[in-house]
Amino acid sequence: MLIEEPMPRHTPLAWTPHQFDVVTTEVLTRPGPPSSRTFADVIEKRRSTVGDPIKLSLVAELLWHAVGWKGHAPSGRAGLPIAWSASPSSGGLQSINIVCIPDDSSAPRLYDPVNHAFLLLRANDERVCLENRRAVLSVTGQQSGCTLRLIGDRSKISAAYENAQSLLLRDAGAVLATICLCAEWLGLSACPLGFLGDAMLPLLALPGERFQGVGGILISGAKRDR
Ligand SMILES: Cc1cc2nc3c(=O)[nH]c(=O)nc-3n(C[C@H](O)[C@H](O)[C@H](O)COP(=O)(O)O)c2cc1C
Repeated sequence: MLIEEPMPRHTPLAWTPHQFDVVTTEVLTRPGPPSSRTFADVIEKRRSTVGDPIKLSLVAELLWHAVGWKGHAPSGRAGLPIAWSASPSSGGLQSINIVCIPDDSSAPRLYDPVNHAFLLLRANDERVCLENRRAVLSVTGQQSGCTLRLIGDRSKISAAYENAQSLLLRDAGAVLATICLCAEWLGLSACPLGFLGDAMLPLLALPGERFQGVGGILISGAKRDR
């Protein structure tokens, strides 16, 4: 397989934020003081695991630590908005969106990393949940928990780079690793999911010419052995 070398564009392409079809916004509470576990302990203990069902408030806390924007600026590389979080990203563009799919047929939620909020997307919630269960089951044999779908904004990264394909996948890997480490730190279970997940895009009314499924992570409660 030929992977083309990414290059910053001399003349960036135009980019505008996508107008997601949001039914309502759930404002989340910023987490309190962080866990005092040492980093040495976290990197010693992190494993891919599936645990008990989990409350969405704990998933939100995890998202804030791992991908919440701790700072942002209106214009960076290529004149595009940039942001910084615990997850590094190509050009600071933060081109990976995270859609959280709970296991209870409630609405899929796009995480808003600026305002720490869940944006409830208009969708057939039951179909989304069924398709998600099928996909998670096919790669883990399990399904309890909440699925985080990583969805790359190809138009954003392509506005700044030529041959941006591998950057999107590497950004997804950075998000995946950061979420898994933070989950361990917070005493939660995390299991990376091997699919890319493009089949979910039409169910979330996300245009395939702009967005790309770049994997997922199953988040569940306290660890138990697999
Ligand atoms: C990109 C990626 C995809 C993965 N996909 C799956 C998967 O679909 N199902 C699964 O059970 N584990 C999956 N895993 C977890 C690996 O099996 C696991 O990381 C590996 O066995 C090492 O175990 P550890 O994470 O506990 O150290 C994936 C890991 C990565 C990095």
